[in-house]
Amino acid sequence: MIIRMRNKKSTYSNSHMQEDNIENSENISDDYAEDIVDKHEQLGMEEKQNTVMNNTDESLTTISEQSQINDVTNLEIQDIEGIGPTTAKKLREAGIFSVMDLAVAGVEDLAVDINASKESAASFIMAAQKLLRESDVLDKEFITADTALKKRRSLLRCSTGSSMLNDLFLGGIETQAVTELYGEFGSGKSQICHTMCITAGQPIESGGLNSGVIYIDTEGTFRPERLEQISSSRSIDPVHALQNVAVCKVYNSAHLELIVKNLGKYIDDYKAKLVIVDSIISLHRAEFSGRGTLADRQQRLNSIMHKLLRISEIYNVAIIVTNQVQSAPDTFFGDPTKPTGGNVIGHASTYRVYLRKSGENRVAKMIDSPYHPYSEVRFTINEKGTDDPEEGKKSKKG
Ligand code: GTP
Ligand code: MG
Repeated sequence: MIIRMRNKKSTYSNSHMQEDNIENSENISDDYAEDIVDKHEQLGMEEKQNTVMNNTDESLTTISEQSQINDVTNLEIQDIEGIGPTTAKKLREAGIFSVMDLAVAGVEDLAVDINASKESAASFIMAAQKLLRESDVLDKEFITADTALKKRRSLLRCSTGSSMLNDLFLGGIETQAVTELYGEFGSGKSQICHTMCITAGQPIESGGLNSGVIYIDTEGTFRPERLEQISSSRSIDPVHALQNVAVCKVYNSAHLELIVKNLGKYIDDYKAKLVIVDSIISLHRAEFSGRGTLADRQQRLNSIMHKLLRISEIYNVAIIVTNQVQSAPDTFFGDPTKPTGGNVIGHASTYRVYLRKSGENRVAKMIDSPYHPYSEVRFTINEKGTDDPEEGKKSKKG
């Protein structure tokens, strides 16, 4: 694993690589599962007094509020009554250090990792989610629509670098969502990702997230020099901007799965509010190429995507995944290209945007969104990364 460009001491031991430890796992009693649920009832009351997130404010969430969220992310498993030292040790060995880590775990993965039944694993996860709900980090099972609206207004939005493209997203790419960018080679997917590495570090008032960025590079196309160019062209200090970005070059699908599994810790370590996976599918597509392996591939991708979705909500981060296209020979009208990965990627993405080349410029189209209008905008790629095309700049001024 390579995490470079920001030399921050991890708060965790070098046991991130769960592979090293998994052999040591021993059976965990199902009693722990029931115990933990009961104990959370009491703990939840205490936690509530230290409520960590103020949902009544309609304005954008401030960074001080964000850091309060981080207090919760710092809760350690052994702080939870009902999880004894043995269980905590097993969970740590499986790469689960905090309540947040446990809350975003997948049942099947956790059951295997800690050598417990699926029922136990599910109880642990539910208990962690319950605690987060009681701490107001996660939504309660039912909230009224006006509370939901207030919460949505407190979402952060990160500028894409182009005001036209921001308009497509009604202000920028949202936290608590997975945004999928798909399109053919050269359509601008990686360029948007590079530009957002710079914009995300900017203050919230300037369209940024005032945060670090995690860039998971599966195609070897990340270029720090390009970040330098983009930040200099935008009159942003490149030294500071590059220190904000943690890059991980991923070499195979198992490595990607491991990085996603431990993503919560990296988000904490690098104070990230933006996570980029460029691209989500290339490794799985290359490794699982035969017909017989398709079901396995889809199941693995499904698991990654759902984990990303849970992480985006629980950690309040924006997640961008890029995807390639394949031709759809059964299309008689319109563009005969469609995203790869089938429904697995599309269903788990909150927003789906199609990018294509159009002469010198690029066109972005909102394909799938719970609330955005079906629309398309033009943008361009230049030394600033993604930018408005000349005609767009004129019409914006006018
Ligand atoms: P794949 O990863 O191959 O699927 O494509 P992609 O969609 O990620 O393409 P990417 O975002 O890398 O866009 C590549 C295109 O961006 C190039 O063909 C160029 O047109 C443009 N581009 C890349 N770097 C620069 C640059 O430094 N200056 C300018 N002006 N254009 C650039
Ligand atoms: Mg690319």
